[in-house]
Amino acid sequence: MNKGKMENKQSDFDKIAPTAWMVAYRRTFSDIPFSQEIFAKLEILRKKKDQKEIPADLKRPEIAPQFEARHKLIDKLIFAVGFDQVLELASGFSSRGLSMSKEDGFNYVETDLSRVILEKEQIIKEIARDNDFDIPSNLHFVAANVLEFEQLARAVDYFDKTKPITIINEGLLRYLTFAEKAKVAQNIYKLLTEFGGVWITSDVSLRKIFSQENIALKDHVKKVSELTGKDIEGNRFEKEEDAKLFFEKLGFSIERHSFIEVIDDLVSPSRLKLSESQVKDIIADAVVFVMRRRM
Ligand SMILES: C[S@@+](CC[C@H](N)C(=O)[O-])C[C@H]1O[C@@H](n2cnc3c(N)ncnc32)[C@H](O)[C@@H]1O
Repeated sequence: MNKGKMENKQSDFDKIAPTAWMVAYRRTFSDIPFSQEIFAKLEILRKKKDQKEIPADLKRPEIAPQFEARHKLIDKLIFAVGFDQVLELASGFSSRGLSMSKEDGFNYVETDLSRVILEKEQIIKEIARDNDFDIPSNLHFVAANVLEFEQLARAVDYFDKTKPITIINEGLLRYLTFAEKAKVAQNIYKLLTEFGGVWITSDVSLRKIFSQENIALKDHVKKVSELTGKDIEGNRFEKEEDAKLFFEKLGFSIERHSFIEVIDDLVSPSRLKLSESQVKDIIADAVVFVMRRRM
């Protein structure tokens, strides 16, 4: 790769990585295991590396229930599907890999862009050391760009090829153009052709959800677009039906689950003193799709 291209990639990375910090911060308002520990370590790393603090506007926690709900709903669906091999794409600083490998025995592979996954592995090692347990041997960290099939293929080397897999992602697709979303879907389709299994994603970014985010946090979508350099508004689906058609055309069948299914499991609303109607405004239109290859 020539130097100019490398530098360009580097700055793209610097712009997208803070989004993982923002989600990790919002999860500290939940009771999701290890969220506090991961965020505390992340802050130590950020300060050590002299990285800029996230602007105050983007730190406001009012939309934390959305992140807690998507995490909990995806957990629930992974268990419901019942496959014991999980590939998480763009896992950022989520604690799911640690919990599900340590407590539930899943063979779990986390992937993200190289610098994020390196930091993640370092953080999880430190948490294990501080709490006197070994990193589970069934938890793996692999650098993989979701747009590069070869990199994803390396990640699934950890799996038993005779058993199906669950592939998940949350908070990724809103940063990708429609052509990039299609590429990710095609890569996932190929992996599911090899193993069998399902794709679970909460990334059905709709106009209505963005408007609610903008009401909860003024100009939220615009500010995250400025931070990341991504046209988030241009990357969203107009309606849920459009998202469904998009993935159906790429060969998937879709089972839909509303974030409302986990509303009673959320603890961040009371911690943040949000009313039920405020919470419903933020999560009511959001869905997780469980997708399978159409025969
Ligand atoms: C909003 S964060 C979500 C992280 C995590 N899923 C969570 O919920 O905490 C978006 C993540 O996507 C990752 N990402 C962005 N583009 C990617 C790509 N092309 N391949 C792999 N990861 C990517 C970023 O590094 C970041 O960790």
